[in-house]
Amino acid sequence: MKFFVDTADIAEIRDLAASGLLDGVTTNPSLILKSGKPMLDTIREICAVVPGPVSAEVTATEHGKMLEEGRKLAKLARNVAVKVPLTPDGLKTCKVLSGEGTMVNVTLCFSPAQALLAAKAGATFISPFVGRLDDIGHDGMSLIAEIMQIYRQYPHLKTEVLVASVRHPQHVVQAAKLGAHVSTVPPNVLRQLFKHALTDAGLKAFLDDWAKTGQSIL
Ligand code: G3P
Repeated sequence: MKFFVDTADIAEIRDLAASGLLDGVTTNPSLILKSGKPMLDTIREICAVVPGPVSAEVTATEHGKMLEEGRKLAKLARNVAVKVPLTPDGLKTCKVLSGEGTMVNVTLCFSPAQALLAAKAGATFISPFVGRLDDIGHDGMSLIAEIMQIYRQYPHLKTEVLVASVRHPQHVVQAAKLGAHVSTVPPNVLRQLFKHALTDAGLKAFLDDWAKTGQSIL
């Protein structure tokens, strides 16, 4: 499974990219606001740090303007994935941009029917928001299971399932068990994936015992 980080904070992205485990980045207008920086410069900077797909979201809602914005975003760097909302105009724009060879991430997906339409529109990625479904008492991961089941029936569909709105490590584990292609994960959750108390305790015990040997490897 590919790991994307869900942030527009360039310092966080640089830090996590250094782990060698980062395959891409997703941003959205709320994350750009949170970064406090100009969107276009931020996307350019992120694309220079992470070679994988970097999602940059259009903010227009009408097809013509979405297409104009999408083409401008695509020109920022070759690894930009233009993000469009799952609306009729968004999918119309997705079809044109993907036909032009631009990566498209269709976002704000909350149903299997929406995911099927996005795949038909040639989306590179579909972003089902699992956390927001959990937030209203639904089971976000069951949506991932349904989408994976549908996509498996049609091997010619190339759309990758990019699990978004991830709230905790269990979302990542469950997504991986379902065979989702990508999880986009907030920086704090990405760091939690490394952590286990028994790992920390075990390492401490090893190092304490090593110190007692009085030896050194170098
Ligand atoms: O990539 C989508 C993600 O940023 C949405 O997350 O926590 O606002 O539901 P959240």
